[in-house]
Amino acid sequence: MADGGRPPGQPRVVLGVSGGIAAYKAVEVCRRLVDAGVHVVPVLTRAATRFVGEATFSALASEPVQRSLWDEASPIPHTRLGQQADLVLVAPATADLIGRYAAGLASDLLTATLLATRAPVVLCPAMHTEMWEHPAVQENLRTLGRRGVRVVPPGEGRLAGGDSGAGRLADPATIAAVALEILGVRGEAAGVDLAGHLDLAGHLDLAGRRVVVSAGGTREPLDPVRYLGNRSSGKQGHALAEAAARRGADVTLVTASSLPLSTASPVRRVAVGSAAEMEEALAAVAPQADVVVMAAAVADFRPKAPSDRKLVKEDGVPEVVLEPTPDILAGLATRRPAGQVLVGFAAETHDVLARGWAKLERKGVDLLVVNDVTAPGAGFEHDTNQVVILERGGRVTEVPLRSKDAVADVVFDRVIARLSEGGEERKRP
Ligand code: CTP
Repeated sequence: MADGGRPPGQPRVVLGVSGGIAAYKAVEVCRRLVDAGVHVVPVLTRAATRFVGEATFSALASEPVQRSLWDEASPIPHTRLGQQADLVLVAPATADLIGRYAAGLASDLLTATLLATRAPVVLCPAMHTEMWEHPAVQENLRTLGRRGVRVVPPGEGRLAGGDSGAGRLADPATIAAVALEILGVRGEAAGVDLAGHLDLAGHLDLAGRRVVVSAGGTREPLDPVRYLGNRSSGKQGHALAEAAARRGADVTLVTASSLPLSTASPVRRVAVGSAAEMEEALAAVAPQADVVVMAAAVADFRPKAPSDRKLVKEDGVPEVVLEPTPDILAGLATRRPAGQVLVGFAAETHDVLARGWAKLERKGVDLLVVNDVTAPGAGFEHDTNQVVILERGGRVTEVPLRSKDAVADVVFDRVIARLSEGGEERKRP
């Protein structure tokens, strides 16, 4: 037997419980993990003990509840707990706990354990809707997300005090399934639909990388109320940004789309309108990036002299003279730092591959994601896409019709392969 009567190889989870009304549901999470063969060490904050009895956890878990940093038998319990854990799971995670963890405070056994561990950490927030939506809480979660902490987002439903809304702790079965998935344990995970949560257990193979993604169709003003635009929805670009963040990257999304990001997304969003604004925003962030993905549909032409007052019918039909916009991607390619991977997109309607290879050369990119926008289910406004990824050096990856999220993951699989190749080819002119 290993420590605490634990068989060798048995996964060990520190189950942190902070003080919210949902603390009682952590009992169910604990039971499911123990039933699946996991060694569970419950760590309760002082406030948690006001909501749920220590005796309940001590009876169900693999070890008695731990609460204090000042346990006489073990003078540094947090280091031992943190070092020995295969996973630290906090359910429920209150706004206070999230804030202290984001700030790097170690004021009780649970936060000290969180700081002392190198194991994966999963937070399951639960709180009132107003608190969940507060910018301080969201910012703290973004900070933690950038550090690789995973979040099982709360659902909507009845909250304490008869209120209803977002902030209700995720279902205990889902929380247990996410934990088991990360630990690589089946058991209870079987039969639970992990769709939408599996990615939380994904690899953090972009941790420590800075990724910049552009998205959406630019809007080129004709006058203060009208613009020339295109049919790009921004869905693929947003999916790319979220995929990179899920995989641990620090992500900036420069977007001309008004699509929302998922709740508690750690992605930093920079909103732009025209090609000129997009160029300026990218110039500020691209030089520091390891990866730049230019998924935006940038207008190729813009009105040469947009009117600064609304064009009205009395003035007659306006004659609009167009001028070319800057080729943002080609500009980024000429100024890119050594080692940066640059990805372009191409929307084509004919001669897809031939035009794709020519565009990859012309734009000076490493990867070109070519989209046949006439294919059923692919391209503008759809939730699905079908692409071919062309790579400098000749490699071709065909991605059949699938969700834009899944396409995003294939793009980053190829980006990561090129990052790890060390960029020898990229140094070629
Ligand atoms: N792009 C850009 N700046 C522009 C036009 C396009 O940065 N002014 C980028 C797009 O974001 C995309 C890539 O270039 O990553 C290819 O876009 P696409 O519209 O297919 O190519 P164009 O250069 O416009 O070529 P064409 O219209 O002749 O196909």
